[in-house]
Amino acid sequence: CSQPLVDAFQRRISYLRLSVTDRCDLRCTYCMPEAMQFLPKKDVLSLEELHKLSLAMIERGITKIRLTGGEPLVRRDVIDLIRALGRKIGDGLDELTLTTNGTRLEEFAEDLFAAGIRRINVSLDTMDSALFEQLSRRDRLVQVLRGIAAAQAAGLKVKLNTVALKGLNEEEIPFLVEWAHARGADMTLIEIMPLGEIEGERSDHYLPLPAVRDRLEQRWTLTDIADSTGGPARYVRVEETGGRLGFITPLTNNFCASCNRIRITATGQLYACLGGAEMVDLRAALRSDTPDARLAEALDEAMRIKPEKHHFRIEQGSGPAQPRHMSVTGG
Ligand code: GTP
Ligand code: 5AD
Ligand code: SF4
Repeated sequence: CSQPLVDAFQRRISYLRLSVTDRCDLRCTYCMPEAMQFLPKKDVLSLEELHKLSLAMIERGITKIRLTGGEPLVRRDVIDLIRALGRKIGDGLDELTLTTNGTRLEEFAEDLFAAGIRRINVSLDTMDSALFEQLSRRDRLVQVLRGIAAAQAAGLKVKLNTVALKGLNEEEIPFLVEWAHARGADMTLIEIMPLGEIEGERSDHYLPLPAVRDRLEQRWTLTDIADSTGGPARYVRVEETGGRLGFITPLTNNFCASCNRIRITATGQLYACLGGAEMVDLRAALRSDTPDARLAEALDEAMRIKPEKHHFRIEQGSGPAQPRHMSVTGG
């Protein structure tokens, strides 16, 4: 490939999180308000542009692409992009994957596997249908559970993502871990992050994961393992269940020193950090007369401006660290 992507802190960037839409069929309360304003469709990159951009990124040494959203599977014809990118697996790409809320997985599971995807992350914060509806403002638990089953039946390895929420799913966490591990799924717990305005106060539900881990250790033996999926999670094995449990701790244990990631929004803005405003506009480069040269320049600039770390804090009344929602940056 041409010049690999290395930032000012000598971090090699090999993992692209590509948002294919900011739209979503759920309205998780920690993520967005009910009346979320979505981006105008005309500003969103076409599937062809997303494909072209992805190929350019692979040329610069990206080996893992995770499609995100919003909810990636609500983008019309997204499967065409997935199929096209799937052809790069083994030819530049080591892994193509996605993070989904699972509501449309039943429909897509077999096509995803056929396109070369082998592993997906599915968001699931609760198995209680009333709490699911309270958290996501939609009644879709049954669809998500069917989606998970269909994904596993199609041969996809599933990892569940659970945002740990004080007073909401806090007491259910051990059950969720058991449920996942009993089905051969790994699970990752995530600390809530202050991105974008929502209706409530995120700090009311912030649950630091070291305390969750302490409580789980009263019940189970957790053994640190060096396994990595190339993302921010640090994993343990739960000896009693035989499954893996990940912890994503942006608030309590900063993992930025080993960051290997950049993210691109559905409108082609490359954000160098989830928590920062540092951005380059790849859409302008892509739509210019000299796209290759402009893209190369923009990516070099992104490496210069990528910050050392995020500065998330969750305190009463401190509001979001970034006006941008997770559904825009793609997490
Ligand atoms: P794996 O490939 O399984 O490791 O996935 P992943 O954890 O990289 O991706 P996923 O989309 O499942 O993200 C899980 C959580 O990690 C989401 O809440 C993301 O927003 C968060 N996350 C991913 N990368 C970063 C990062 O660089 N910084 C922060 N603060 N959070 C991140
Ligand atoms: N903080 C932490 N995680 C979040 N997610 C969405 N918004 C937030 C937030 N503010 C989670 C989703 C999904 C993953 C991509 O990010 O639940 O599992
Ligand atoms: Fe949709 Fe994911 Fe945000 Fe929930 S967290 S509203 S599933 S984008």
